[in-house]
Amino acid sequence: MAITIKTAEEIEKMRVAGRLAAEVLDMITPHVQAGITTNELDKLCHDHIVNVQKAIPSPLNYKGFPKSICTSINHQVCHGVPGQRVLKNGDILNIDITVTKNGYHGDTSRMFMIGKPSIRAKRLIEIAYECLWIGIRQVKPGGYLSQIGKAIQQYATHQKCSVVREYCGHGIGKKFHEPPQVLHYYSTEVKDTLLRPGMTFTIEPMINAGKRHIKVLPDKWTVVTKDHKPSAQWEHTILVTEDGVEVLTLGKNEKQPQG
Ligand code: MF3
Ligand code: CO
Ligand code: CO
Repeated sequence: MAITIKTAEEIEKMRVAGRLAAEVLDMITPHVQAGITTNELDKLCHDHIVNVQKAIPSPLNYKGFPKSICTSINHQVCHGVPGQRVLKNGDILNIDITVTKNGYHGDTSRMFMIGKPSIRAKRLIEIAYECLWIGIRQVKPGGYLSQIGKAIQQYATHQKCSVVREYCGHGIGKKFHEPPQVLHYYSTEVKDTLLRPGMTFTIEPMINAGKRHIKVLPDKWTVVTKDHKPSAQWEHTILVTEDGVEVLTLGKNEKQPQG
């Protein structure tokens, strides 16, 4: 399958889906507190997406995923499955939301801190956030996809953190995961992609405090760091515009990058 260039009508639908995904994170934020279980967070998000937004939680049944959101705690890198685990003071948590509305997907994730995490964990969250935005700022028509990963890797390694390689960002639209793969590190092994207006994809660097290596738990979903050191991730869905980039999943406290 080739990279799709979205039409003006499709872009409008992508904007709606992106906004809804970001709104789920806004809605859940006051609930992310010590004492709540990730199952309860999943149910709140599911009900909001289905009943309020009249949308579909894309992860539910996606390749057999059993829940509507992903919740990844501490040394969990991504694809954490909501369950009975109770959030406690000092935890860090990624909540990853993908919704489908009018046939189009919006995908975004943020980090949350429960009570007072360690200085080290807080710093990791900030570095991962900066990695996301460094990646976003590389995006412009006529630019190359590889610049994103190159810039992220350079910053992360300078901060003595590592970048996960097994999972990457992705084209998004009618399908949850479309080409291209958006690497968060530099590689000459994949064919580079010239960025063109109308492309929509995610940037979602997973940044580890320790080594980059990961493994998948026996539940076949939860990805964790091999060294059990914490990991952090933030994700936005973006559109390549005629003169730069538009972030489709902006949070309340974020603004569009200036071209
Ligand atoms: N939302 C994740 C991403 O950013 C994918 C989750 S797939 C699931 O691409 F099956 F785990 F939900
Ligand atoms: Co994604
Ligand atoms: Co996601």
